[in-house]
Amino acid sequence: MLERLPESAVIEGGASRSLKHESAELHVSGTAAYLDDIPEPRGTLHVVPGLSTRAHARLVSMDLDAVRAVPGVVRVLTAADVPGDNQVSPVHALDEPILAEDRVFYWGQPLFAVVATSRAVARRAARLARVEYEDMPAILDVAQARKNGGVTVWRPLTMTRGDVDAGLVAAPRRLSGRITIGGQEHFYLEGQAALAQPGEAGEMRVWSSTQHPSETQHLVAAMLGRPHHLVTTEVRRMGGGFGGKETQANTVACLAALAAAVTGRAAKLRLDRDDDMMMTGKRHDFVVDYDVGFTDDGMLLAVDMVLAARCGWSADLSGPVIDRALFHADNAYFYPDVRFRSEALKTNTQSNTAFRGFGGPQGIVAAERVIEEVAFATGLDPLDVRLHNVYGMGSRDVTPYHMTVEDSIAAEIMSDLAGRADYRARRRAIRASNADSPYIRRGIALMPVKFGISFTATHYNQAGALVHVYTDGSVQVNHGGTEMGQGLHTKMVQIAMREFGLGEDRVRITATTTGKVPNTSATAASSGADLNGMAVLDAIRRIKGRMIAFAAEKWAVAEDEISFEADGVHIGETVLPFAKLAWEAYFARISLSATGFYKTPKISWDPATGRGRPFFYFAYGAACAEVAIDLLTGEMAIERVDILHDAGQSLNPAIDIGQIEGGFVQGAGWLTTEELVWDSFGRLRTHAPSTYKIPACSDRPRIFNVSLLENAPNREATIFRSKAVGEPPFVHGVAVLQAISDALASLDDYRTCPRLDAPATPETILRTAARMKGEPV
Ligand code: MTE
Ligand code: MOS
Repeated sequence: MLERLPESAVIEGGASRSLKHESAELHVSGTAAYLDDIPEPRGTLHVVPGLSTRAHARLVSMDLDAVRAVPGVVRVLTAADVPGDNQVSPVHALDEPILAEDRVFYWGQPLFAVVATSRAVARRAARLARVEYEDMPAILDVAQARKNGGVTVWRPLTMTRGDVDAGLVAAPRRLSGRITIGGQEHFYLEGQAALAQPGEAGEMRVWSSTQHPSETQHLVAAMLGRPHHLVTTEVRRMGGGFGGKETQANTVACLAALAAAVTGRAAKLRLDRDDDMMMTGKRHDFVVDYDVGFTDDGMLLAVDMVLAARCGWSADLSGPVIDRALFHADNAYFYPDVRFRSEALKTNTQSNTAFRGFGGPQGIVAAERVIEEVAFATGLDPLDVRLHNVYGMGSRDVTPYHMTVEDSIAAEIMSDLAGRADYRARRRAIRASNADSPYIRRGIALMPVKFGISFTATHYNQAGALVHVYTDGSVQVNHGGTEMGQGLHTKMVQIAMREFGLGEDRVRITATTTGKVPNTSATAASSGADLNGMAVLDAIRRIKGRMIAFAAEKWAVAEDEISFEADGVHIGETVLPFAKLAWEAYFARISLSATGFYKTPKISWDPATGRGRPFFYFAYGAACAEVAIDLLTGEMAIERVDILHDAGQSLNPAIDIGQIEGGFVQGAGWLTTEELVWDSFGRLRTHAPSTYKIPACSDRPRIFNVSLLENAPNREATIFRSKAVGEPPFVHGVAVLQAISDALASLDDYRTCPRLDAPATPETILRTAARMKGEPV
């Protein structure tokens, strides 16, 4: 199925080149400007929030006199100071006050904000607040939420196809189980930050480290009770977002803007790392119950799953995150009879939010547990169970949400990777060596990923751009997407270079601002390049169209004799420098500026029926991981990883490989060392790098081979036939969890599924090993 598309179907040319990241030199020389590097306007004030120290309570009183009395404190803001809506719910659930009103819902909720002449003063003053609480029962996790009636923050979603109850009863073999999957702190290197500057007549300019400038603009405007046109949001780049700045930046921006509005001075809020971790939402942790019917030769017949997530105190994006977990609880496998159900449980913890993969990885972890269970129950190699059950043609190509998989290449990618990684022989060798290795056990796993690309909220799948050609032939590109390290701006520059035939020094990408491109979507769902790339292309082609029409007339040649090449614009026999043509066009009063627009075709989704085509296409890949675990200490090392990933006709192979490497490492960290721990009071105890362990250099795979799938242009007409690459490779980290499980399985000679929960920290590995050996745990 990796057939080449007819040449005419490929948007001609492509931009595929490993151009280095447009900010690479600035990044490595420390001169890239992040929010905190923006020169502060004269008299800038500093904002520090005061946080709740109860998980759930009525606010009896807040005595802030001592805070106000500290020299340097200019104002102390509370909910009563908010002139407009005290709300940042991104889904209009009206359940997320910026500053607490009469109740607090989690430990870490902002109660008030100190505005002072320096950050240090504001921090010190914030601690002097005397807050009286009347405690209420706090519900902290999925189990407690279920015990207390299971209050949810989002409608339940059911996806069904076939008759799962009948399928389970009729299946020759059946098993059921549960997996718990931990959450994850984003740990963006640049924390949440915003700077607000009041202008004239109610204008407010907000620099924000946000993935969603338009939403930040809209929420700041609503908070101030002003129309959108008075508020401008700007972001040059983020030092990482990973979904953690899709909505979580809004409270920070609103507090900075509130301080600026109330004082009439510029105000900045840069969260302290501990406060950031205490305040902001994380990846959802899940509890998944599964019931599976299958055959002796490992064919899945019926799969029933309930996916429950800890959502935290407000809806935020929990609904769409859990929906996406359901969309991916099949990973790349066809389930003949299937039912998935969601439970988005409300808890008194941080409001969990977007995080790379947006629930998809949790769904896939559950799918891969089912594969493992069936493999151990039947004695088959898990890879064979995967290959048997992968989406195929004919009657085996429909997802639980009734979308047809038109291009399942997962089997081919897995087989290809199994060859490249020498999976079969290594698996045999590992089993043989485990048999006489008392303390060090090794494991290997090879698994696919199929990841749906598009926002499941259909209206989000649109983008705008604004391109200017100046009279010296230099080009400025603006679009609605934000740069968080993923290389989006570089890809946009490449499109302009390719289309105009210019060098990179002639194309400048500017900061993202709502003043240039309005009503944008979050840079999320991996669709930044897909959406904005097409909008940029649209704008460029409009300008080119005008330049071509002008040149055709002036030089009396046919329009199809004009082309934009690296050595200049070819107009029949004439070759003109681009700058010269730009000047000539300007002189003839031709507009050299255009907006562009794009909306993704073909997609639709109806949550009421659980049916539709929510995704324009799927991105695929496979990973093979080998690990070694130490049965004395529980330590784990990743010995080797091979990844084959489908980025379509890559826009920039170097950047895409960087996304795959980074995504894998982040995914592996989620499932191994990164553990969030709340105490019985609902206080997050892992709120600093001292207690929360992200992967370090030394945790990277000893051998790490990453390849892009070759000759695999997207079947759909995406920008130059590329595929989105931001989130899908995160899922490759799941292969590490599977490999650890394989190593543990050696303890009872591969007879039972270890049922390893995530994260597989050393403690979890030791506990699971003890259980496998029949020791008391
Ligand atoms: N890569 C870097 N370096 N930093 C990031 O914050 N975010 C990820 C991914 N890759 C991220 C990243 C997430 S969550 C998404 S949705 C995509 O990038 C967003 O960018 P894109 O749509 O342009 O790929
Ligand atoms: Mo990515 S979680 O969609 O910002």
